[in-house]
Amino acid sequence: MCGIVGVVGSPNAASILLEGLKRLEYRGYDSAGMVIMTPDGQQLVKEKGKIVNLEAALNWDELKGTCGIAHTRWATHGAPNQINAHPHVSGKVALVHNGIIENQKALKIQLTNKGHEFVSQTDTEVLAHLIEDFYDGDLVKAVQLALGVVDGAFGIAVTHLDEPDLIIGARRGSPLVVGVGEGVNYLASDVAAMMGHTRQVIYLDDGEMVTLRPEGIHTTTIDNEEITKEIQEITWDLDQIQKGGYEHFMLKEIFEQPQTIRDSFRGRILPGTGDVKLGGIELTDWELRNIRRIIILACGTSWHAGLVGEYLLEEYAHIPVEVEYASEFRYRSPIIEPGTLCLVISQSGETIDTLEAMREAKRKGAKVLGITNTVGSTIARESECGVYIHAGPEIGVASTKAFTSQVTILALMAILFGRRTHLSADRGTQMLQELVKLPDLVQKVLDQSDAIKQIAEVYAGHKNCLYLGRGVNFPIALEGALKLKEISYIHAEGYPAAEMKHGPIALIDPDMPVVVIATKDGSYDKIVGNVQEVRARDGKIISIVTEGDTEIAALSDHVITIPETMNFWTPLLSVIPLQLFAYHIAVIRGEDVDQPRNLAKAVTVE
Ligand code: M6R
Repeated sequence: MCGIVGVVGSPNAASILLEGLKRLEYRGYDSAGMVIMTPDGQQLVKEKGKIVNLEAALNWDELKGTCGIAHTRWATHGAPNQINAHPHVSGKVALVHNGIIENQKALKIQLTNKGHEFVSQTDTEVLAHLIEDFYDGDLVKAVQLALGVVDGAFGIAVTHLDEPDLIIGARRGSPLVVGVGEGVNYLASDVAAMMGHTRQVIYLDDGEMVTLRPEGIHTTTIDNEEITKEIQEITWDLDQIQKGGYEHFMLKEIFEQPQTIRDSFRGRILPGTGDVKLGGIELTDWELRNIRRIIILACGTSWHAGLVGEYLLEEYAHIPVEVEYASEFRYRSPIIEPGTLCLVISQSGETIDTLEAMREAKRKGAKVLGITNTVGSTIARESECGVYIHAGPEIGVASTKAFTSQVTILALMAILFGRRTHLSADRGTQMLQELVKLPDLVQKVLDQSDAIKQIAEVYAGHKNCLYLGRGVNFPIALEGALKLKEISYIHAEGYPAAEMKHGPIALIDPDMPVVVIATKDGSYDKIVGNVQEVRARDGKIISIVTEGDTEIAALSDHVITIPETMNFWTPLLSVIPLQLFAYHIAVIRGEDVDQPRNLAKAVTVE
């Protein structure tokens, strides 16, 4: 949430910051700003709204300097307007901040009593004043003293006009990464901001700070203890974070799924044994056999992937699974018994609720395994062991390809755990043979995008939508509803199909489209009954059925088919038309698909 960029040592500082902000815009996009240290003083530009507004306001002649910091905001304290936009300035100090300063009220009173005047409603401005208050010619010391008295979470970048070749970064709870160049160094909340300039990066951990000067980088703890950090190499390319000819990142990412699912299982299947190898799972066979309970911790779409995982793991590994909202788990007294494994699922690896839940689980003695997409993210680094999903950078705020890759990894895990106990080699082999066919089957569903767009045209003007599914496709109903509501702002609910008669059926009328996932499985006859219940009340039915189905098709207003596969692998196919349906509806309604209102890609505040 919120994007930070800083650069020191480049004559093109302002254009590097602008380019970085554009790459980080998915993290927050309600206002943006930058400050450049110039011979004529610190030049500050801030604008409400997206980065294009900031770009239009830049006077390049005034922004000639080699050092600056910039920010794209997702509002927490104070409305999204120009005054509340970052950087915040106090005297010669400028600050950008990601996170929340929890004791800002008390600090503001103390600073006001000392004569500081505030112009914004933000907690960030309080921190800028606090640093200025401590400043006596040494910015490093002032930042350390200020951070010593603040409570809460932060990732910050700070400058001071009297030290115009210096940026200080520090983190507690919000990500920061340093880019190491030659004579130019970078700081950002996400490596995407510095791609094209350097591939050498240092990930800061909580409690750490960095000073960046053109000639070098120096890392310490916030308490000023020297630390040595490892420089890592970024392996992905710039074109992976560009649209590649698609109108939106979301559409590109939906269409990448045959490849990203393949990338998730590539090299992890052991031919001839019905078994898999997940290199990051540092558990012995004995430990794998002795997992007594699995708790899955996640939020949003990752939580839905976890729900699919619950079905897969219970079916094939015979291990009891609970799927918890990370935000709830961390605030109760979770019972962690010996033999408990926590699977922590997060695309970004930075979601604060998930991160804190993971820390709580570790504190209570659980073995913790991270399933993340973002290499070097905090969850990836803090989990004891883990698996990368290899979906590549996901830029669209609505998660799509990360979901199918998460489910693919959970399918592999179900086989891995199952093969350590009761699952036979033959069954494992058969399951894996079906799994490797999925990328081609996903492509067949994607080929129906135009037909799905036509259905979307019929329903784009509706105000509500109900999604029904049973068994392993119940989480897909939830995911379909989430996709629709977050990008089209149409109210949508997902339900287990049988649950409809316990309440939601009261909503059914000719204005209520009902999307039913009704693939051929053990509960097919039951779902036929549910579809008839909707039809009897004149609801409109859009069904997702297995190729060749005629019974539900005959009861439906619109039909989308998916190819036949193993029942427990169907979520990887049935979710695709729901992603496309949501996407086309949002485009038809003229909504901002990649940056929907009020949302951000990585939710790093509670
Ligand atoms: O990065 P994470 O997977 O931890 O993110 C979790 C949720 O914030 C995320 O899935 C969110 O629900 C998306 N907007 C869904 O499309």
